[in-house]
Amino acid sequence: HNLSSPCAISDNWPGYSLDLFTYPQHYYGDLEYVLIPHGIIVDRTERLAKDIMQDIGDNDIVVLCVLKGGYKFCADLVEHIKNLSRNSERFISMKVDFVRLKSYHNDQSMQDMQIMGGDDLSKLTGKDIVGTGRTMKVLLNNIEKYKPKMIKVASLLVKRTSRPDGYRPDYYGFEIPDLFVVGYALDYNEHFRDLNHICVINDHGKAKYRV
Ligand code: IMP
Ligand code: MG
Repeated sequence: HNLSSPCAISDNWPGYSLDLFTYPQHYYGDLEYVLIPHGIIVDRTERLAKDIMQDIGDNDIVVLCVLKGGYKFCADLVEHIKNLSRNSERFISMKVDFVRLKSYHNDQSMQDMQIMGGDDLSKLTGKDIVGTGRTMKVLLNNIEKYKPKMIKVASLLVKRTSRPDGYRPDYYGFEIPDLFVVGYALDYNEHFRDLNHICVINDHGKAKYRV
């Protein structure tokens, strides 16, 4: 395994035992381990907010949240930017908009992608995870039509896929192994969004919620 960034989680990282934390009882038996505990996600997001603030300068921003999987990350990121902005001399005005994308079926990325909603144009997009990068490229092609002054992409996770053309966002929280993960708004067929930690689902969980 080659680690390409300091926030990379290595392929042989065993994760944390589920017994160390609390998580919803309805998911007992469905998970393998905790890849990233909720507290670390929040702490890392705070730092991303600081980096973004530094780069954005005095520009006003439109945050485009990519639903549904990006809602937790986007909300936490916006909250941190607001706090940093309130406690500094710089006042960044922020608008928030939402688009909904859908492409996954079970744990497989689907060919056709639907984009729904979004009336404002983005300078910053808040996303859950970049897997193959296909979803992000389709979205960016759509946004670029409107010629925004600046577009920056923030994604909590980037997967280390074998694809060399993998998309790299401007900001990301963690680079993770090529695993299917759930929690912190990331779903498996709409389940597990109500799990705080980012976890790896086990075979039992996959079978239980397969459609
Ligand atoms: P991509 O097109 O393969 O980059 O996939 C992007 C989208 O697929 C993300 O925005 C997620 O909604 C979903 N996705 C990709 N990998 C995972 C995963 O491991 N768990 C849950 N959803 C995922
Ligand atoms: Mg999904």
